[in-house]
Amino acid sequence: SRSPIVAIDGPAGAGKSTVTRAFARRLGLIYLDTGAMYRAVTWWVQHLGADPALPEAVAAALAGLDLQISAAAEGAQQVCINGHDVTEAIRSPEVTAQVSAVAAHGCVRDALTAQQQAMGSRGGLVAEGRDIGTAVFPDADLKVFLTATVAERARRRAQDLEARGFAVPSQPVLEAEIAERDHRDATRAVAPLRMADDAVELVTDGMAIEAVIQALVDLFRDRV
Ligand code: C5P
Repeated sequence: SRSPIVAIDGPAGAGKSTVTRAFARRLGLIYLDTGAMYRAVTWWVQHLGADPALPEAVAAALAGLDLQISAAAEGAQQVCINGHDVTEAIRSPEVTAQVSAVAAHGCVRDALTAQQQAMGSRGGLVAEGRDIGTAVFPDADLKVFLTATVAERARRRAQDLEARGFAVPSQPVLEAEIAERDHRDATRAVAPLRMADDAVELVTDGMAIEAVIQALVDLFRDRV
């Protein structure tokens, strides 16, 4: 039998990364940000100049891709493609704009899901994404669906972009971008964004980050 697995899913900008990373550190679990893996493939597709909408082009790009995920300082995660560190580059607005299109391809999902399952084969891990509780680790010991209203998530996204030194679009533009990514992620044919039947829903509007982390720790202590 393996060590526990925790699945944290939810839409874009719900604050999953921040709270999941802190939760992982507190419980001594490995932190796996699966969105970073979809972003890395997207960065690679763009780097090659391939069309993210074409399944054949994306499959060809995937064939030449060696994606390495490793633990970094402070519980962070380092992402390397064919030996190059792309940890920062995959956060660009260009990658964000096309990642849902790349993530919709079955070949991409098959490859990344298999890699994620291999990383979690011994357990002792908390993975965050869109399909962790439904497709990657359906036998997870705890599943949480972390969400917030579009307005709240757009405000958080603005703060995040500002902190990273990127231009900050207006609130309506950010809300429209987030709603579009939600829609694409929730309506794709393969492993769409969806709350697992046995997940606990946590709506985080108005909650401080620390309160969300504490709620996750309490759920883990109660149920795992
Ligand atoms: O979490 P993050 O916003 O970095 O995820 C980027 C994108 O990667 C999502 O909008 C989604 O299209 C894709 N993704 C996915 N399945 C996951 C994690 C992310 O399809 N498990």
